Amino acid sequence: MAKPKVLVTRRWPAAVEAQLSETFDAVLNTGDKPLSEGELRDAMTSYDAVLPTVTDKISARAFDIARPQARILANYGVGYSHIDMHGAAGHGMTVTNTPDVLSECTADIAMTLLLMVARRAGEGERELRAGQWTGWRPTHLVGTKVSGKTLGIVGFGRIGQEMARRAHHGFGMKIVVQNRSRVSPDILARYGATQADSLEELMPQCDFVSLHCPGGPANRHLINTRMLNLMKPDAFLINTARGEVIDELALSRALWFETIGGAGLDVFDGEPRINPDLLDCENLVMLPHLGSATREAREAMGFRVLDNLNDFFEGREPRDRVT
Ligand code: 8YV
Repeated sequence: MAKPKVLVTRRWPAAVEAQLSETFDAVLNTGDKPLSEGELRDAMTSYDAVLPTVTDKISARAFDIARPQARILANYGVGYSHIDMHGAAGHGMTVTNTPDVLSECTADIAMTLLLMVARRAGEGERELRAGQWTGWRPTHLVGTKVSGKTLGIVGFGRIGQEMARRAHHGFGMKIVVQNRSRVSPDILARYGATQADSLEELMPQCDFVSLHCPGGPANRHLINTRMLNLMKPDAFLINTARGEVIDELALSRALWFETIGGAGLDVFDGEPRINPDLLDCENLVMLPHLGSATREAREAMGFRVLDNLNDFFEGREPRDRVT
């Protein structure tokens, strides 16, 4: 039987690409250039599987095709708000993602941002590289102590829980969570956490707020001016979820007028474009979407996609099916 034809939309770790080429009739993107909407639409009409990433916006328009050949979109990444799920469902297409294998590394980046912004590490590095460090003094770049403070976690899935583990067991932080559904008391107890009934209840209690909820239309601008105004004036906001969860104009105002202490962002609305209002904020640390960027996580994500494809083409239910 002919091997299924699969299209890999970006460069993937070499070990995974080698395995994909062995198992499937795989076309790799050796130039690593993101595909246009038209190219994605064409791919869905000529491949049995398309393997997208966060940089492939597969909008409702991209699904405007008579009969796709692709029966599965095996996404490389846990978040899939870049795929229009109604469009995929309309064609009866299966969509899978890659949970679990990147949770620890993404929580590590959230903790990195939290520590960097609280301890003013970005400002310090910029000063030093600019040759402007004049030497140690008691009042120089004085930041905020992290240990023992209260951390609010918005979205208590796998990554949120890994963040809680680090913050509670590593830094003695008190954890408050907000989640769509009730979290079981056993899980909360693992991290000494309590659950707030709403975001309105969570925001004013926290010294740090870290976002771990999905992106997409339902959570667009979840953090807006009203929510930012509920934060303590010296509290910090961390986002490793999706850029659209924050109203960036509202955040840049809060940072500029110092109505909050600072922020750490790994994801941006419309990335890789960065809202110019953010660039002038000294009390902001920014990373270029590095959440899962470790060799270990990126390889494991790729092999998880392979597992999902093998299950699908051998007639089993893929373990990470999301629709
Ligand atoms: C991935 C992420 O690198 O998995 C996710 O949802 O945000 C990132 O860590 C990216 O999405 C790959 O498509």
